[in-house]
Amino acid sequence: MTTHTIRHGQACGKIILIGEHAVVYGAPAIAIPFQSVGATVHVRPSDDQSRLHCDFYTGSITDMPETLLGLKVAIEETLASLNQSDACLTLTIDSTIPIERGMGSSASIAIAMIRALYTYYQQELPQETLLALVNASEKVVHGNPSGIDAAIIATEHALVFQKAQPSQSLTVSLDAYLIVADSGITGRTKEAVTTVKAFQEEHPVQHAELLSQLETLVLSVQQELQDGDSTIVGQAFTHAHTCLQELGVSHPTIDMLVQTAIDHSALGAKLTGGGLGGCMIALAHDSQTAQTIANALLQNGAKQTFIQSLKK
Ligand code: MEV
Repeated sequence: MTTHTIRHGQACGKIILIGEHAVVYGAPAIAIPFQSVGATVHVRPSDDQSRLHCDFYTGSITDMPETLLGLKVAIEETLASLNQSDACLTLTIDSTIPIERGMGSSASIAIAMIRALYTYYQQELPQETLLALVNASEKVVHGNPSGIDAAIIATEHALVFQKAQPSQSLTVSLDAYLIVADSGITGRTKEAVTTVKAFQEEHPVQHAELLSQLETLVLSVQQELQDGDSTIVGQAFTHAHTCLQELGVSHPTIDMLVQTAIDHSALGAKLTGGGLGGCMIALAHDSQTAQTIANALLQNGAKQTFIQSLKK
């Protein structure tokens, strides 16, 4: 390898269709890779010390701020696993994933970083090593992550994910369109997970009841996603949203966007990811309705929308 080698690693975003938060307590959840956004990390040699360049920080790896501790852990642990802890590198992150909006930005950037470093050192990256490294980073970012973000982004396949169980690949082929809207409000996954934990301590019976409802909804969506009934999936989305509202992880703006989607003929809508802001998703029967919903969401303050066909 020459000293001028530049290598890169990439990763997509993710969207949780249903089951967020319940998944932290061992229930299944369904998520899909989201290729409309992504992260790329470029690695090149540096003369003196290792540096990071990204939208939110430029400087030495050693001085990375506390807010980027998860990423620092990903870099340091990856270099240690490659026996390159003393390396001098310039790491540049280009990401189109909105930060802290439930699209998996932290896991995606960490995965792009780990892939880039392994590619740079021309080492095979076994999937278990990738998952172990990104999960160590995600623990720092989210406190008690289920591992769903890491699993979806690492495999780039729709999954039924359940903690401590082998993930099940899922073929999504539904005659419907998914609309994803960014509220522009920073979601706070770690705080949201803590909110649900506090709800469990104060209201254990309601917590168990809501989790059980969410689990039933996940199982019904799982059944319908393979050429099933989009109306059932849409209704499950809206029902799941009310459960997440009761658990205390929605946000008035997200609730308003969910209602806007429903008022414009969505089959259903819900928050996606950690909540307390972030993104919402809606389901539409056809592409024209999806466009109408996306326009209405933008008119009501959404910062960005994406439309994706769920038909294979
Ligand atoms: C975050 O994308 C999903 C949550 O369920 C947290 C987790 O699973 O770690 C809210």
